[in-house]
Amino acid sequence: MRKLAYLAIACTTVITACGAEAPQPSPQPTAEPPLAATAPPRPNLPNWKEEMPLPFPFPEGAFAPVDAFVQAQQLGRGVNFGNMLEAPKEGEWGLVVREEYFPLVRQAGFDTVRVPIRWSAHALRQPPYTIAPEFFQRIDWVIENALQNDLNVVINMHHYEELFKDLEGERERFLVLWDQIATRYRNLPPEVLFEPLNEPHGALDNESWEELFRQVLAVIRRTNPHRNVIFTGADMGTLNGLLQAKRPNDDPHLIATFHYYLPFAFTHQGAEWVEGSSAWLGTTWRGNGTQRANVDYDMDRAVRWGKQNNMPVWMGEFGAYSKADLDSRVAWTNYVARAAEARGLTWAYWEFGSGFGVYDPISLQWNEPILNVLIQKQEATGR
Ligand code: GLC
Repeated sequence: MRKLAYLAIACTTVITACGAEAPQPSPQPTAEPPLAATAPPRPNLPNWKEEMPLPFPFPEGAFAPVDAFVQAQQLGRGVNFGNMLEAPKEGEWGLVVREEYFPLVRQAGFDTVRVPIRWSAHALRQPPYTIAPEFFQRIDWVIENALQNDLNVVINMHHYEELFKDLEGERERFLVLWDQIATRYRNLPPEVLFEPLNEPHGALDNESWEELFRQVLAVIRRTNPHRNVIFTGADMGTLNGLLQAKRPNDDPHLIATFHYYLPFAFTHQGAEWVEGSSAWLGTTWRGNGTQRANVDYDMDRAVRWGKQNNMPVWMGEFGAYSKADLDSRVAWTNYVARAAEARGLTWAYWEFGSGFGVYDPISLQWNEPILNVLIQKQEATGR
């Protein structure tokens, strides 16, 4: 009971804070967009939805839509809470989400946290594919802390490995998982964004992914007609994947993303999960002419894609692994972040406190050289 009252107070505060800071949204249609018609019929499942109490007592209709281009700018400088909730179980990869991380990243100057989540490991394998209530409560807590600290929060679906192997076998489950997530969070403020799938690959080629994206978007739109949703290309969410994709439909509330780890042999040298990467150890990045030109060329292409598709673009992951030398990591991170910003692209660094970490959760210290080039303190973000 005490907990409930606390939640109510916390959420009222959040609404007020968000309302005060929200930019003037552009006029939005009030009816469900027509693309909802393309949603597959809800599977005939037992009443799973009614069994799940909603976490936040937001009043119906409180959602004030934010223009996708405006919100892409508001995402500003972000950080991924990686290796926490997308591990098979939180903590298995050495890191759990801690309450103090939220004020810490906010005070350091970040505007957004992207939260990778392995939903597929916390839901029934069979219909009705119910997401475990205690896992939902954990994510509720993450969202609540992000909002209380004035951070945008991107909720994604990460490492759905079964889907990458067997699209048809997992399609319904994927859609029903998102139906549960979207329904549960439908009344949360627009600073909560949904990203349906991290780095589509395997069974998902361009075509099958775009079809699945349209389906999952239609599912999300049944309960969240105007929330901004993150679209990515296939091919592991790379820039190439995005360049091969096209805008999935005319839904105005989409923000495109790509992940940037080029040159891969530099950013992933010694990465235990990348076969052969130990041969790359010692690769440096000092920002010579060709190295800089390659980054510029890539950022230009991302921007051109955004213009051609009339979509804002957000670089949802970029970073260099800690096996690279620190000077090179700092130089690369600085150059990529500035190249993106110079073209109006916002970003989220991969990641907070693990192998690419900008923070050391053991010594409780920021990696100052990396932090300083991510957040240039002299230009306070002032969101
Ligand atoms: C992707 C992967 C993640 C990995 C990161 C850097 O987000 O899903 O597991 O750590 O890229 O390689």
